Amino acid sequence: MLILKLKYFVHYYKSKILKKKCKKNYKDQKIKFESDIKEKNFSNKWFLNNFDIFNFFLPKDKNSKFDYLEVGCFEGLSSFFVLSEYKAINAILLDIWDMPNPNSKTLSHNFNSIEKAFDNNLSGFNFTKIKDDSVVAMRKLFKQNKSFDFIYIDGSHNGEDILSDAIEAFKILKKEGLIFFDDFLQYDKNRALQSYDGIEKFLNLYSNYLKIEYFQNNLVVRKK
Ligand SMILES: C[S@@+](CC[C@H](N)C(=O)[O-])C[C@H]1O[C@@H](n2cnc3c(N)ncnc32)[C@H](O)[C@@H]1O
Repeated sequence: MLILKLKYFVHYYKSKILKKKCKKNYKDQKIKFESDIKEKNFSNKWFLNNFDIFNFFLPKDKNSKFDYLEVGCFEGLSSFFVLSEYKAINAILLDIWDMPNPNSKTLSHNFNSIEKAFDNNLSGFNFTKIKDDSVVAMRKLFKQNKSFDFIYIDGSHNGEDILSDAIEAFKILKKEGLIFFDDFLQYDKNRALQSYDGIEKFLNLYSNYLKIEYFQNNLVVRKK
C-alpha cells in the first residue's frame, strides 16, 4: 500500500486538502442528513464516512437528470441520500443481498432482513432495483446498452471482486463519467487480495483512458 501511495503521492496529497475543505463545507448538510435518517432503519452508517467527498463529486445542480448506478446497497443508506437529493435522477440500485462469491469476505448478516430494510427505507422513491451478482448484472446492463454518469462501487471489498467490478463498471461508464470506489486503502488481514491490490491493477490497465480525480480511502476516476 505504501508503494501505491508513493506512486500516487501528488494525487494523495491534493486529495487530502480537498477532503479537509469538503468536511468543513458539508458539515451542516451532514448534520441535517443524520437527523433526516433518525426515523429510518439503518443499522450501519458506513456511508457517513464518505458523505462529504461523495457529495462533492455529485452534480451541483440538484435538478440534474443523470444516470446513477450503485453496486452494493445493503440497507440503502447511500441510495437514500442520492434519491432524496436528486429528484430527477435515473437510478439503478444493485445488490446480491445474499452470500457473495466464495472467495469474498462475507458480511455476517441476515440478508433477508437487510433487503427488507432496504425496501422499507426506500419506499416512496422511484428507482430500478436489481438483485444479482454485480458482475453478472453489469454485463447484462452492458448488453442492454445502458450507460451511466456516476457509478458508486461499494460491493465486495475483496481485491479480485473490486477489480472485476471496476472493469465491468468502466465498460458502462459514459465519457466524462465518474466511478467512486469505497474504502479502497483499508487493510483486512482476512483478505487474500486487498482492495488496493485490485485497484492498482485497474489503474495500471486503464491509465490511458482515465483521470484520477481523488485518491484517499475513496478513489474517484473520470473516463477520458
Ligand atoms: C458495505 S455494504 C454497502 C453499504 C451501502 N452502500 C450503504 O450505504 O450502507 C456492501 C454490500 O455489497 C453487497 N455485495 C457484496 N458482494 C456483492 C456482489 N458480488 N454483487 C452484488 N452485491 C454484493 C453486499 O450484499 C452488501 O450489501
